[in-house]
Amino acid sequence: MNKTEAIKATEEFVRQNMAGYDSGHDWWHIERVRRLALYINEQEAAADPFILEVTALLHDSVDSKFAGSETEKGFARIELFMDEIGLTNIKEQVVSVVRNVSFSKKNPSGNLKDPVLFIIQDADRLDAIGAIGIARAFNYGGFRNNKIYNPETEQKSSSTISHFYEKLLVLKSGMNTLTAKRLAIERHEFMEVFLKQFYSEWEFGVPKVKS
Ligand code: ADP
Ligand code: NI
Repeated sequence: MNKTEAIKATEEFVRQNMAGYDSGHDWWHIERVRRLALYINEQEAAADPFILEVTALLHDSVDSKFAGSETEKGFARIELFMDEIGLTNIKEQVVSVVRNVSFSKKNPSGNLKDPVLFIIQDADRLDAIGAIGIARAFNYGGFRNNKIYNPETEQKSSSTISHFYEKLLVLKSGMNTLTAKRLAIERHEFMEVFLKQFYSEWEFGVPKVKS
């Protein structure tokens, strides 16, 4: 199998694998992350483009949130698939990046120093902010039946608006690459504008308390 065929086979594997995921983690998320990752790499020339593309395609194929105790089986499935398409030589690298990307919530930096990981982390985080990030957050909140906003109990994880403060507004400062830092600026500002407008509509007609 040549590289083009291997990419096609991986796309097919991912599409089948993700059929049961939520719509914020659908094929189009994978497609956006792939495009962002390849763009970042064009600017930075840090990683092998083929390994980067294969890993970007596979990066959400094992998500512990959805796979539960099946997580290890999920990694084994990826390895088996990579053997089948003749990518045994890169499977160890790809799987350790996928492990570290999916563990990123608990351990943001991990121990792995691999430009493939840094770039995919950035691409994944860029897709969680800006207009698309806002759409994905409210989509996820709806999926979990969370509140849009609750001004009385703005505690941890109580609403999708609180998710902005817990995660989305923090992502900009955690970007690894210069290109992602640059791309994050506009997306971050858009979320700030969105929140400002959101609160102004929410408070409509309520007189401002003088301080
Ligand atoms: P990743 O796929 O990058 O590992 P997650 O699985 O945590 O990240 O999140 C996937 C998407 O769902 C992201 O856009 C994220 O912002 C959003 N999301 C995750 N948790 C919440 C939440 N509690 N409320 C709203 N959106 C969420
Ligand atoms: Ni992702």
